[in-house]
Amino acid sequence: MSEQVHVVWHDHQVSREDHEKLNGHKGCVVWFTGLSACGKSTVANLVDHKLHAAGKHSFVLDGDNVRMGLNAAPGLLKERHGEEFAKRFGLGFSAQDREENIRRIGAVANLFAQAGLITLTAFISPYRRDRDHVRAAMKDGDFVEIFVDAPLEVCEARDPKGLYKKARAGELKGFTGIDDPYEAPTKPELVLDAGQKDAETLADEVIAYLKKSGKLG
Ligand code: ADX
Repeated sequence: MSEQVHVVWHDHQVSREDHEKLNGHKGCVVWFTGLSACGKSTVANLVDHKLHAAGKHSFVLDGDNVRMGLNAAPGLLKERHGEEFAKRFGLGFSAQDREENIRRIGAVANLFAQAGLITLTAFISPYRRDRDHVRAAMKDGDFVEIFVDAPLEVCEARDPKGLYKKARAGELKGFTGIDDPYEAPTKPELVLDAGQKDAETLADEVIAYLKKSGKLG
């Protein structure tokens, strides 16, 4: 039996359209997905920089940063709020925790879109179903899925945090691409060839797509 939910959506006095008019462009969510170290954050931050320089209102939500606060790992929460709290609200890397990670980010990004922001999210988001749920919760056209496509060998060779090495050594279990799945998007709005092209070129491809699809006003 489903519990009754006593919450109602409030339309804000300043509407999304008001925000977009003031900003001079549409709000949307640009969702980068791909393996760890494929370049998601680098490209998202470059796009952010270029948009900012062009007078657009954008913001990056990034895997590692969000996992320090809103979606903090149990270890971090334990230090701050104790063991019981950490167990209840901490998010690790099980399929269930990744699902909740993506659900929360999707909800935040959707709110940011209402504020007329171009939100750039950089999470592995390895499960197709989780990404599709985020898309389904948004207005048509608000969710721009970008597959940052770099072969595992390339990501593993970069290994900026030494995590692939740890995963190969069996010191880190359930690492995406090694002993945990990554499901590539089947119909992304854009695919970036991050194995061949540099981040600058890829960022320009994203900007070109946003322009072409009318997101930049
Ligand atoms: S997601 O799968 O839930 O979308 P998210 O993007 O938030 O992942 O976090 C990924 C980052 O966490 C990686 O870039 C890496 O630095 C770190 N990490 C730690 N453990 C794992 C793991 N088991 N699998 C993937 N990334 C991990």
